[in-house]
Amino acid sequence: MSKEQRQISKSDKDIESSGTKERFTRSGFILAAIGSSVGLGNMWKFPYITGLYGGAAFFLLFTICLLLIGLPVLIAEMTIGRGGRGSPATSLIRLSGQRIWGSFGVLSIAGAFFIMSFYAVVAGWTLHYAVISFGGAIREGVDVEATFNHFIGGFLPVLWQFVVMLVTGWIVIRGASGIEKFNKVLIPALVLILLFLMVRVLMLPGAGAGVEFFLRPDFSKLSNESVLVALGHAFFSLSLGMGTMMTYGAYVDREQSLGAATLAVGGGDLLYALLAGLIIFPTTFAYGIEPGQGPGLAFVALPAAFSAMPLGWLFGGLFFILLAIAALTSCVSLLEVPIAFAIDRWGWGRNKATVITSALCFLVGVPSAISVGGAVNGLHWGPRSFFDWTDFIASNIILPLGGLVVTIFVGYVWKNVAQQAGLTAGWFMLWLFILRFVAPILILLVFLHSSGLLSFG
Ligand code: PHE
Repeated sequence: MSKEQRQISKSDKDIESSGTKERFTRSGFILAAIGSSVGLGNMWKFPYITGLYGGAAFFLLFTICLLLIGLPVLIAEMTIGRGGRGSPATSLIRLSGQRIWGSFGVLSIAGAFFIMSFYAVVAGWTLHYAVISFGGAIREGVDVEATFNHFIGGFLPVLWQFVVMLVTGWIVIRGASGIEKFNKVLIPALVLILLFLMVRVLMLPGAGAGVEFFLRPDFSKLSNESVLVALGHAFFSLSLGMGTMMTYGAYVDREQSLGAATLAVGGGDLLYALLAGLIIFPTTFAYGIEPGQGPGLAFVALPAAFSAMPLGWLFGGLFFILLAIAALTSCVSLLEVPIAFAIDRWGWGRNKATVITSALCFLVGVPSAISVGGAVNGLHWGPRSFFDWTDFIASNIILPLGGLVVTIFVGYVWKNVAQQAGLTAGWFMLWLFILRFVAPILILLVFLHSSGLLSFG
Protein backbone atom coordinates (compact mmCIF):
# COMPACT_ATOMS: atom_id res chain seq x y z
CA MET A 1 0.00 0.00 0.00
CA SER A 2 1.42 3.41 -0.87
CA LYS A 3 1.88 6.22 1.59
CA GLU A 4 -0.88 8.23 -0.02
CA GLN A 5 -3.36 5.43 0.33
CA ARG A 6 -2.68 4.98 3.99
CA GLN A 7 -3.62 8.53 4.82
CA ILE A 8 -7.31 8.31 4.12
CA SER A 9 -9.17 10.89 6.10
CA LYS A 10 -11.91 10.35 8.63
CA SER A 11 -14.61 11.15 6.14
CA ASP A 12 -13.12 8.58 3.78
CA LYS A 13 -13.38 6.01 6.55
CA ASP A 14 -17.03 6.92 7.02
CA ILE A 15 -17.65 6.43 3.34
CA GLU A 16 -15.88 3.10 3.50
CA SER A 17 -18.15 1.90 6.27
CA SER A 18 -21.40 3.27 4.84
CA GLY A 19 -20.73 2.51 1.16
CA THR A 20 -21.30 -0.67 -0.79
CA LYS A 21 -19.62 -3.81 0.54
CA GLU A 22 -19.56 -5.62 -2.76
CA ARG A 23 -16.06 -6.23 -4.09
CA PHE A 24 -14.42 -7.54 -7.23
CA THR A 25 -11.26 -9.64 -7.04
CA ARG A 26 -8.23 -8.09 -8.74
CA SER A 27 -8.45 -10.00 -11.98
CA GLY A 28 -12.25 -9.92 -11.84
CA PHE A 29 -12.27 -6.14 -11.92
CA ILE A 30 -9.82 -5.93 -14.79
CA LEU A 31 -11.74 -8.46 -16.86
CA ALA A 32 -15.08 -6.81 -16.12
CA ALA A 33 -13.71 -3.42 -17.17
CA ILE A 34 -12.25 -4.91 -20.35
CA GLY A 35 -15.59 -6.59 -21.00
CA SER A 36 -17.34 -3.26 -20.70
CA SER A 37 -15.05 -1.45 -23.11
CA VAL A 38 -14.77 -4.23 -25.68
CA GLY A 39 -18.17 -4.01 -27.34
CA LEU A 40 -20.02 -3.40 -30.56
CA GLY A 41 -18.50 0.04 -31.10
CA ASN A 42 -15.06 -1.14 -32.15
CA MET A 43 -16.49 -3.75 -34.43
CA TRP A 44 -18.92 -1.84 -36.57
CA LYS A 45 -17.99 1.79 -36.23
CA PHE A 46 -14.29 1.92 -35.68
CA PRO A 47 -13.03 0.00 -38.74
CA TYR A 48 -15.13 2.16 -41.02
CA ILE A 49 -14.13 5.52 -39.60
CA THR A 50 -10.53 4.35 -39.67
CA GLY A 51 -10.75 3.57 -43.37
CA LEU A 52 -12.49 6.88 -44.00
CA TYR A 53 -10.36 9.21 -41.92
CA GLY A 54 -6.87 8.11 -42.88
CA GLY A 55 -6.17 4.43 -42.10
CA ALA A 56 -3.09 3.97 -39.97
CA ALA A 57 -2.79 7.75 -39.54
CA PHE A 58 -6.24 7.74 -37.92
CA PHE A 59 -5.38 4.68 -35.88
CA LEU A 60 -2.38 6.57 -34.57
CA LEU A 61 -4.57 9.55 -33.74
CA PHE A 62 -7.07 7.28 -31.98
CA THR A 63 -4.22 5.75 -29.98
CA ILE A 64 -2.98 9.20 -28.96
CA CYS A 65 -6.49 10.35 -27.96
CA LEU A 66 -7.01 7.16 -26.01
CA LEU A 67 -3.71 7.42 -24.14
CA LEU A 68 -3.65 11.15 -23.60
CA ILE A 69 -7.28 11.90 -22.75
CA GLY A 70 -9.12 8.59 -22.53
CA LEU A 71 -6.92 6.92 -19.92
CA PRO A 72 -6.75 9.93 -17.57
CA VAL A 73 -10.56 10.17 -17.63
CA LEU A 74 -10.79 6.41 -17.11
CA ILE A 75 -8.58 6.65 -14.00
CA ALA A 76 -10.70 9.60 -12.85
CA GLU A 77 -13.92 7.61 -13.14
CA MET A 78 -12.52 4.59 -11.35
CA THR A 79 -11.03 6.77 -8.60
CA ILE A 80 -14.36 8.52 -8.03
CA GLY A 81 -16.10 5.16 -7.77
CA ARG A 82 -13.53 3.68 -5.40
CA GLY A 83 -13.50 6.83 -3.28
CA GLY A 84 -17.28 7.25 -3.12
CA ARG A 85 -18.28 3.58 -2.89
CA GLY A 86 -21.64 4.09 -4.50
CA SER A 87 -23.46 4.72 -7.76
CA PRO A 88 -22.14 7.73 -9.71
CA ALA A 89 -24.70 10.08 -8.17
CA THR A 90 -24.01 8.98 -4.61
CA SER A 91 -20.23 8.94 -5.04
CA LEU A 92 -20.17 12.46 -6.45
CA ILE A 93 -22.29 13.77 -3.56
CA ARG A 94 -20.24 11.95 -0.92
CA LEU A 95 -16.92 13.19 -2.25
CA SER A 96 -17.94 16.81 -2.79
CA GLY A 97 -20.49 17.21 0.00
CA GLN A 98 -22.71 19.05 -2.51
CA ARG A 99 -26.04 17.69 -3.66
CA ILE A 100 -25.89 19.38 -7.07
CA TRP A 101 -23.26 16.84 -8.14
CA GLY A 102 -25.85 14.14 -7.65
CA SER A 103 -27.83 15.60 -10.55
CA PHE A 104 -24.77 15.44 -12.78
CA GLY A 105 -24.35 11.82 -11.75
CA VAL A 106 -27.96 11.13 -12.67
CA LEU A 107 -27.26 12.45 -16.17
CA SER A 108 -24.68 9.71 -16.75
CA ILE A 109 -26.94 7.10 -15.18
CA ALA A 110 -29.73 8.08 -17.57
CA GLY A 111 -27.21 7.86 -20.40
CA ALA A 112 -26.29 4.29 -19.47
CA PHE A 113 -29.96 3.34 -19.22
CA PHE A 114 -30.73 4.73 -22.68
CA ILE A 115 -27.65 3.23 -24.32
CA MET A 116 -28.62 -0.10 -22.80
CA SER A 117 -32.15 0.20 -24.21
CA PHE A 118 -30.98 0.16 -27.83
CA TYR A 119 -27.71 -1.69 -27.32
CA ALA A 120 -29.74 -4.69 -26.13
CA VAL A 121 -31.62 -4.59 -29.44
CA VAL A 122 -28.41 -4.90 -31.46
CA ALA A 123 -27.05 -7.49 -29.03
CA GLY A 124 -30.23 -9.43 -29.79
CA TRP A 125 -29.52 -9.26 -33.52
CA THR A 126 -26.09 -10.79 -32.93
CA LEU A 127 -27.67 -13.75 -31.10
CA HIS A 128 -30.19 -14.24 -33.88
CA TYR A 129 -27.43 -14.16 -36.48
CA ALA A 130 -25.29 -16.64 -34.53
CA VAL A 131 -28.24 -19.01 -34.54
CA ILE A 132 -29.08 -18.60 -38.23
CA SER A 133 -25.43 -18.87 -39.29
CA PHE A 134 -24.97 -22.15 -37.49
CA GLY A 135 -28.34 -23.21 -38.85
CA GLY A 136 -27.02 -22.76 -42.40
CA ALA A 137 -29.26 -19.85 -43.42
CA ILE A 138 -26.33 -17.73 -44.59
CA ARG A 139 -25.15 -19.66 -47.63
CA GLU A 140 -24.31 -19.16 -51.28
CA GLY A 141 -27.19 -17.70 -53.25
CA VAL A 142 -29.06 -16.22 -50.29
CA ASP A 143 -29.86 -12.51 -50.56
CA VAL A 144 -28.28 -11.44 -47.29
CA GLU A 145 -29.52 -7.87 -47.55
CA ALA A 146 -33.13 -8.96 -47.98
CA THR A 147 -32.68 -11.42 -45.10
CA PHE A 148 -31.50 -8.65 -42.82
CA ASN A 149 -34.20 -6.17 -43.85
CA HIS A 150 -36.86 -8.79 -43.43
CA PHE A 151 -35.56 -9.63 -39.95
CA ILE A 152 -35.30 -6.09 -38.59
CA GLY A 153 -38.57 -5.13 -40.29
CA GLY A 154 -40.45 -7.68 -38.19
CA PHE A 155 -41.10 -8.30 -34.51
CA LEU A 156 -38.60 -11.09 -33.91
CA PRO A 157 -35.95 -8.57 -32.76
CA VAL A 158 -38.17 -7.76 -29.76
CA LEU A 159 -38.00 -11.38 -28.68
CA TRP A 160 -34.20 -11.39 -28.96
CA GLN A 161 -33.99 -8.09 -27.13
CA PHE A 162 -36.03 -9.72 -24.38
CA VAL A 163 -33.58 -12.64 -24.28
CA VAL A 164 -30.67 -10.21 -23.93
CA MET A 165 -32.38 -8.35 -21.07
CA LEU A 166 -33.12 -11.66 -19.40
CA VAL A 167 -29.53 -12.92 -19.67
CA THR A 168 -28.08 -9.56 -18.59
CA GLY A 169 -30.47 -9.33 -15.65
CA TRP A 170 -29.67 -12.90 -14.66
CA ILE A 171 -25.95 -12.02 -14.43
CA VAL A 172 -26.35 -8.64 -12.78
CA ILE A 173 -28.77 -9.91 -10.14
CA ARG A 174 -25.78 -11.78 -8.62
CA GLY A 175 -23.95 -8.50 -8.11
CA ALA A 176 -20.22 -7.88 -8.50
CA SER A 177 -19.30 -11.54 -8.06
CA GLY A 178 -21.77 -12.63 -10.75
CA ILE A 179 -20.48 -9.98 -13.11
CA GLU A 180 -16.88 -11.02 -12.64
CA LYS A 181 -17.56 -14.73 -13.04
CA PHE A 182 -19.37 -14.05 -16.30
CA ASN A 183 -16.49 -11.98 -17.65
CA LYS A 184 -13.88 -14.48 -16.49
CA VAL A 185 -15.43 -17.12 -18.69
CA LEU A 186 -16.38 -15.00 -21.67
CA ILE A 187 -13.35 -12.75 -22.15
CA PRO A 188 -10.92 -15.65 -22.73
CA ALA A 189 -13.47 -17.16 -25.13
CA LEU A 190 -13.67 -13.85 -26.96
CA VAL A 191 -9.89 -13.64 -27.33
CA LEU A 192 -9.68 -17.18 -28.70
CA ILE A 193 -12.41 -16.62 -31.29
CA LEU A 194 -10.91 -13.27 -32.27
CA LEU A 195 -7.47 -14.78 -32.93
CA PHE A 196 -8.87 -17.80 -34.70
CA LEU A 197 -10.99 -15.68 -37.05
CA MET A 198 -8.16 -13.27 -37.75
CA VAL A 199 -5.76 -16.04 -38.76
CA ARG A 200 -8.43 -17.58 -40.98
CA VAL A 201 -9.41 -14.42 -42.83
CA LEU A 202 -5.85 -13.20 -43.30
CA MET A 203 -5.23 -16.40 -45.27
CA LEU A 204 -8.02 -15.61 -47.74
CA PRO A 205 -6.79 -14.79 -51.23
CA GLY A 206 -7.05 -11.03 -51.68
CA ALA A 207 -7.04 -10.30 -47.96
CA GLY A 208 -4.00 -8.04 -48.35
CA ALA A 209 -6.03 -5.32 -50.09
CA GLY A 210 -8.27 -5.09 -47.02
CA VAL A 211 -5.31 -4.83 -44.69
CA GLU A 212 -3.94 -2.09 -46.91
CA PHE A 213 -7.21 -0.14 -46.94
CA PHE A 214 -7.41 -0.38 -43.17
CA LEU A 215 -3.84 0.42 -42.29
CA ARG A 216 -2.25 2.41 -45.10
CA PRO A 217 -1.41 5.72 -43.45
CA ASP A 218 -2.80 8.73 -45.24
CA PHE A 219 -1.85 11.78 -43.25
CA SER A 220 -3.50 14.08 -45.79
CA LYS A 221 -6.91 12.84 -44.61
CA LEU A 222 -6.31 13.95 -41.04
CA SER A 223 -8.22 17.08 -40.10
CA ASN A 224 -9.64 18.82 -37.06
CA GLU A 225 -12.68 16.71 -37.58
CA SER A 226 -10.67 13.47 -37.43
CA VAL A 227 -9.33 14.51 -34.05
CA LEU A 228 -12.82 14.99 -32.65
CA VAL A 229 -14.12 11.80 -34.22
CA ALA A 230 -11.14 9.89 -32.80
CA LEU A 231 -11.63 11.34 -29.33
CA GLY A 232 -15.38 10.77 -29.34
CA HIS A 233 -14.80 7.18 -30.33
CA ALA A 234 -12.08 6.72 -27.70
CA PHE A 235 -14.65 7.76 -25.09
CA PHE A 236 -17.37 5.48 -26.37
CA SER A 237 -15.09 2.51 -26.71
CA LEU A 238 -13.59 2.96 -23.24
CA SER A 239 -17.17 3.17 -21.86
CA LEU A 240 -16.56 6.64 -20.42
CA GLY A 241 -19.06 9.36 -19.54
CA MET A 242 -21.81 6.86 -18.74
CA GLY A 243 -20.99 6.09 -15.13
CA THR A 244 -20.00 2.50 -15.92
CA MET A 245 -16.40 2.82 -14.79
CA MET A 246 -17.48 4.80 -11.71
CA THR A 247 -19.94 2.07 -10.84
CA TYR A 248 -17.38 -0.70 -11.31
CA GLY A 249 -14.83 1.42 -9.43
CA ALA A 250 -17.05 1.30 -6.34
CA TYR A 251 -16.40 -2.47 -6.14
CA VAL A 252 -12.60 -2.17 -6.31
CA ASP A 253 -10.48 -2.91 -3.30
CA ARG A 254 -8.56 0.09 -1.98
CA GLU A 255 -5.29 -1.77 -2.30
CA GLN A 256 -5.70 -2.50 -5.99
CA SER A 257 -3.63 -0.37 -8.33
CA LEU A 258 -5.83 1.47 -10.77
CA GLY A 259 -2.84 2.10 -13.02
CA ALA A 260 -2.52 -1.58 -13.92
CA ALA A 261 -6.25 -1.86 -14.58
CA THR A 262 -6.18 1.25 -16.74
CA LEU A 263 -3.33 -0.03 -18.86
CA ALA A 264 -5.04 -3.39 -19.26
CA VAL A 265 -8.30 -1.77 -20.36
CA GLY A 266 -6.61 0.72 -22.69
CA GLY A 267 -4.32 -1.91 -24.20
CA GLY A 268 -7.16 -4.43 -24.51
CA ASP A 269 -9.39 -1.92 -26.22
CA LEU A 270 -6.69 -0.86 -28.70
CA LEU A 271 -5.81 -4.43 -29.53
CA TYR A 272 -9.44 -5.32 -30.02
CA ALA A 273 -9.92 -2.35 -32.35
CA LEU A 274 -6.93 -3.46 -34.37
CA LEU A 275 -7.99 -7.10 -34.58
CA ALA A 276 -11.56 -6.10 -35.47
CA GLY A 277 -10.25 -4.18 -38.48
CA LEU A 278 -7.97 -7.07 -39.39
CA ILE A 279 -10.99 -9.34 -39.53
CA ILE A 280 -13.50 -7.07 -41.21
CA PHE A 281 -11.53 -5.57 -44.10
CA PRO A 282 -9.70 -8.69 -45.29
CA THR A 283 -13.04 -10.56 -45.29
CA THR A 284 -14.99 -7.98 -47.26
CA PHE A 285 -12.14 -7.13 -49.65
CA ALA A 286 -11.41 -10.77 -50.41
CA TYR A 287 -14.93 -11.07 -51.78
CA GLY A 288 -15.07 -7.65 -53.42
CA ILE A 289 -17.79 -6.35 -51.09
CA GLU A 290 -18.16 -2.67 -50.17
CA PRO A 291 -17.67 -2.63 -46.37
CA GLY A 292 -20.08 0.21 -45.45
CA GLN A 293 -20.68 0.93 -41.78
CA GLY A 294 -23.05 0.32 -38.91
CA PRO A 295 -25.60 -2.44 -39.17
CA GLY A 296 -24.84 -2.83 -42.87
CA LEU A 297 -21.25 -3.77 -42.16
CA ALA A 298 -21.80 -6.44 -39.52
CA PHE A 299 -25.13 -7.84 -40.72
CA VAL A 300 -24.97 -7.50 -44.50
CA ALA A 301 -21.42 -7.07 -45.85
CA LEU A 302 -19.84 -9.70 -43.62
CA PRO A 303 -22.63 -12.27 -44.05
CA ALA A 304 -22.29 -11.75 -47.81
CA ALA A 305 -18.62 -12.65 -47.55
CA PHE A 306 -19.24 -15.58 -45.19
CA SER A 307 -21.88 -16.96 -47.53
CA ALA A 308 -19.26 -17.25 -50.26
CA MET A 309 -16.53 -18.70 -48.03
CA PRO A 310 -15.91 -22.43 -47.65
CA LEU A 311 -17.30 -23.41 -44.23
CA GLY A 312 -18.75 -19.91 -44.08
CA TRP A 313 -21.55 -21.00 -41.73
CA LEU A 314 -18.93 -21.92 -39.15
CA PHE A 315 -16.88 -18.73 -39.47
CA GLY A 316 -20.02 -16.60 -39.68
CA GLY A 317 -21.47 -18.32 -36.64
CA LEU A 318 -18.26 -17.81 -34.69
CA PHE A 319 -18.11 -14.17 -35.74
CA PHE A 320 -21.60 -13.53 -34.39
CA ILE A 321 -20.84 -15.40 -31.18
CA LEU A 322 -17.85 -13.09 -30.84
CA LEU A 323 -20.05 -10.04 -31.36
CA ALA A 324 -22.63 -11.39 -28.93
CA ILE A 325 -19.99 -11.90 -26.22
CA ALA A 326 -18.59 -8.41 -26.79
CA ALA A 327 -22.10 -6.95 -26.62
CA LEU A 328 -23.25 -8.90 -23.56
CA THR A 329 -20.22 -8.03 -21.43
CA SER A 330 -20.89 -4.36 -22.24
CA CYS A 331 -24.62 -4.77 -21.54
CA VAL A 332 -23.83 -6.11 -18.08
CA SER A 333 -21.82 -2.98 -17.25
CA LEU A 334 -24.51 -0.68 -18.64
CA LEU A 335 -27.39 -2.26 -16.75
CA GLU A 336 -25.41 -2.29 -13.50
CA VAL A 337 -25.29 1.53 -13.52
CA PRO A 338 -29.02 2.26 -12.98
CA ILE A 339 -29.31 -0.80 -10.74
CA ALA A 340 -26.53 0.43 -8.43
CA PHE A 341 -28.33 3.78 -8.38
CA ALA A 342 -31.67 2.26 -7.38
CA ILE A 343 -29.95 0.25 -4.66
CA ASP A 344 -28.15 3.09 -2.95
CA ARG A 345 -30.55 5.93 -3.71
CA TRP A 346 -33.85 4.26 -2.92
CA GLY A 347 -32.57 1.48 -0.69
CA TRP A 348 -33.99 -1.25 -2.93
CA GLY A 349 -32.68 -4.78 -2.64
CA ARG A 350 -30.64 -6.01 -5.62
CA ASN A 351 -33.36 -8.40 -6.74
CA LYS A 352 -36.03 -5.75 -6.85
CA ALA A 353 -33.69 -3.22 -8.48
CA THR A 354 -32.64 -5.70 -11.15
CA VAL A 355 -36.13 -6.86 -12.03
CA ILE A 356 -37.65 -3.37 -12.21
CA THR A 357 -34.73 -1.75 -14.04
CA SER A 358 -34.44 -4.56 -16.58
CA ALA A 359 -38.18 -4.50 -17.25
CA LEU A 360 -38.20 -0.73 -17.72
CA CYS A 361 -35.15 -0.81 -19.92
CA PHE A 362 -36.77 -3.50 -22.04
CA LEU A 363 -39.93 -1.41 -22.46
CA VAL A 364 -37.98 1.71 -23.41
CA GLY A 365 -36.01 -0.38 -25.91
CA VAL A 366 -39.06 -1.82 -27.68
CA PRO A 367 -39.72 1.35 -29.76
CA SER A 368 -36.05 1.20 -30.78
CA ALA A 369 -36.38 -2.43 -31.83
CA ILE A 370 -39.45 -1.82 -33.95
CA SER A 371 -38.49 1.57 -35.40
CA VAL A 372 -35.06 0.82 -36.83
CA GLY A 373 -36.22 -1.66 -39.45
CA GLY A 374 -39.60 -0.03 -40.04
CA ALA A 375 -41.74 -2.77 -38.41
CA VAL A 376 -43.90 0.05 -37.10
CA ASN A 377 -44.12 3.30 -39.00
CA GLY A 378 -44.49 6.64 -37.28
CA LEU A 379 -41.65 6.23 -34.81
CA HIS A 380 -39.61 8.68 -36.86
CA TRP A 381 -38.98 12.32 -36.09
CA GLY A 382 -37.04 14.45 -38.52
CA PRO A 383 -34.04 12.60 -39.87
CA ARG A 384 -34.02 9.88 -37.23
CA SER A 385 -35.95 6.88 -36.03
CA PHE A 386 -36.60 6.33 -32.32
CA PHE A 387 -33.56 4.02 -32.33
CA ASP A 388 -31.32 6.65 -33.92
CA TRP A 389 -32.57 9.39 -31.61
CA THR A 390 -31.81 7.33 -28.52
CA ASP A 391 -28.35 6.57 -29.88
CA PHE A 392 -27.77 10.21 -30.85
CA ILE A 393 -28.87 11.69 -27.52
CA ALA A 394 -27.05 9.13 -25.39
CA SER A 395 -23.82 8.76 -27.40
CA ASN A 396 -23.39 12.24 -28.84
CA ILE A 397 -24.84 14.47 -26.13
CA ILE A 398 -24.96 12.74 -22.73
CA LEU A 399 -21.67 10.87 -23.16
CA PRO A 400 -19.42 13.91 -23.76
CA LEU A 401 -21.29 15.89 -21.10
CA GLY A 402 -20.78 13.03 -18.65
CA GLY A 403 -17.06 13.03 -19.50
CA LEU A 404 -16.91 16.78 -18.94
CA VAL A 405 -18.51 16.40 -15.51
CA VAL A 406 -15.83 13.88 -14.53
CA THR A 407 -12.91 16.07 -15.60
CA ILE A 408 -14.29 19.16 -13.86
CA PHE A 409 -15.14 17.23 -10.73
CA VAL A 410 -11.70 15.71 -10.32
CA GLY A 411 -9.84 18.73 -11.70
CA TYR A 412 -11.54 21.44 -9.65
CA VAL A 413 -14.03 20.16 -7.10
CA TRP A 414 -12.77 17.10 -5.28
CA LYS A 415 -10.38 18.32 -2.60
CA ASN A 416 -9.17 14.96 -1.35
CA VAL A 417 -8.27 13.55 -4.71
CA ALA A 418 -4.50 13.56 -4.17
CA GLN A 419 -4.80 11.05 -1.33
CA GLN A 420 -7.22 8.87 -3.23
CA ALA A 421 -5.58 8.58 -6.60
CA GLY A 422 -2.64 6.51 -5.40
CA LEU A 423 -0.42 8.04 -8.10
CA THR A 424 3.17 9.17 -7.57
CA ALA A 425 3.64 12.94 -7.38
CA GLY A 426 4.84 13.31 -10.97
CA TRP A 427 2.06 11.23 -12.51
CA PHE A 428 -0.47 12.95 -10.31
CA MET A 429 0.57 16.42 -11.51
CA LEU A 430 0.42 15.33 -15.13
CA TRP A 431 -2.95 13.68 -14.60
CA LEU A 432 -4.39 16.74 -12.90
CA PHE A 433 -3.01 19.03 -15.57
CA ILE A 434 -4.73 17.01 -18.30
CA LEU A 435 -7.99 16.86 -16.37
CA ARG A 436 -7.93 20.58 -15.62
CA PHE A 437 -6.75 22.16 -18.82
CA VAL A 438 -6.60 19.79 -21.76
CA ALA A 439 -9.45 17.30 -21.48
CA PRO A 440 -12.34 19.71 -20.73
CA ILE A 441 -11.59 21.85 -23.79
CA LEU A 442 -11.26 18.90 -26.12
CA ILE A 443 -14.35 17.20 -24.72
CA LEU A 444 -16.34 20.39 -25.11
CA LEU A 445 -15.29 20.52 -28.76
CA VAL A 446 -16.30 16.88 -29.20
CA PHE A 447 -19.67 17.73 -27.71
CA LEU A 448 -20.18 20.73 -30.01
CA HIS A 449 -19.17 18.64 -32.99
CA SER A 450 -21.09 15.44 -32.23
CA SER A 451 -24.25 17.31 -31.26
CA GLY A 452 -24.14 19.14 -34.59
CA LEU A 453 -23.52 22.60 -33.09
CA LEU A 454 -20.07 22.82 -34.64
CA SER A 455 -19.53 21.68 -38.18
CA PHE A 456 -16.55 21.59 -40.45
CA GLY A 457 -18.66 22.04 -43.57
N1 PHE B 1 -17.65 0.47 -24.89
C1 PHE B 1 -18.79 -0.14 -25.49
C2 PHE B 1 -18.53 -0.41 -26.97
O1 PHE B 1 -17.51 -0.09 -27.50
C3 PHE B 1 -20.02 0.67 -25.37
C4 PHE B 1 -20.30 1.27 -24.03
C5 PHE B 1 -20.37 2.63 -23.89
C6 PHE B 1 -20.46 0.45 -22.92
C7 PHE B 1 -20.59 3.21 -22.66
C8 PHE B 1 -20.67 1.00 -21.67
C9 PHE B 1 -20.74 2.39 -21.54
O2 PHE B 1 -19.34 -0.94 -27.64
